[in-house]
Amino acid sequence: MTDGLRRPVTALTGAGVSAESGVPTFRGEEGLWRRHRADELATPTAFRRDPLLVWEWYDWRRRLIDQCLPNPAHHTLASMEETLSPFTLITQNVDGLHQAAGSVNVLELHGSIWRVRCTACSHVSEDYRVPLPDLPPHCPECGELLRPDVVWFGESLPADVLAAAWEAARRCRTMLVIGTSATVQPAASLPLAALRGGGTLLELNPAATPLSRHAHTVIRAPAAQALPNWWEAHRFG
Ligand code: OAD
Repeated sequence: MTDGLRRPVTALTGAGVSAESGVPTFRGEEGLWRRHRADELATPTAFRRDPLLVWEWYDWRRRLIDQCLPNPAHHTLASMEETLSPFTLITQNVDGLHQAAGSVNVLELHGSIWRVRCTACSHVSEDYRVPLPDLPPHCPECGELLRPDVVWFGESLPADVLAAAWEAARRCRTMLVIGTSATVQPAASLPLAALRGGGTLLELNPAATPLSRHAHTVIRAPAAQALPNWWEAHRFG
């Protein structure tokens, strides 16, 4: 292995890894938060106020993501999981494209747009129907309102997933940070935990982020093109 890829390896991905699949990012010129208000669509208060509005927005995103295929960056990360051991993939994305590419162990910090959770009995199930037949949907177990099983602003991340992510960040020797603006906590702090643990950081992002100055290597390019190239150059050490 070269200095560029010391094991264990942990990767943290954000919306940018799915950009070339056609999934909109959140920030930046074409970002979702430019056209939609997070406080009206992605908070518990917004959902209590208008569950139908929130569900219509999630149903629209589900339909959009359903049309998207994983790109070479997703496939490269799946290949890393097969080749490198240990390897941990942490994502802030809810789109399921890592799993569609073949990644098996994915720590989904912000949940999944393909799962629904009951607001009353907490029953969780996968639901891949697009569009959803009835909005807002109701729980098959108790009949109460379902919500997307995602993390909204002001909510805690799933404790077990977050604990595993901290552990993978602390123990890794290389952390790949791909396609995230590194502005949303606690995800944005995971690379700093990797640094404190003695790991090296590689940032792959066409734009600078608050993390850039900490990174040992910075690749300013789109992930679908640059990650496969980087992997080809480093996989055999
Ligand atoms: P952002 O939209 O904040 O950032 C996307 C990042 O991807 C930016 O830094 C872009 O420069 C970069 N990018 C764009 N195209 C890229 C490409 N082709 N290859 C690589 N990078 C590219 O998305 P996140 O950082 O994921 O949370 O946002 C974090 C969280 O904020 C999301 O999980 C979501 C959002 O609000 C919740 O909804 C709770």
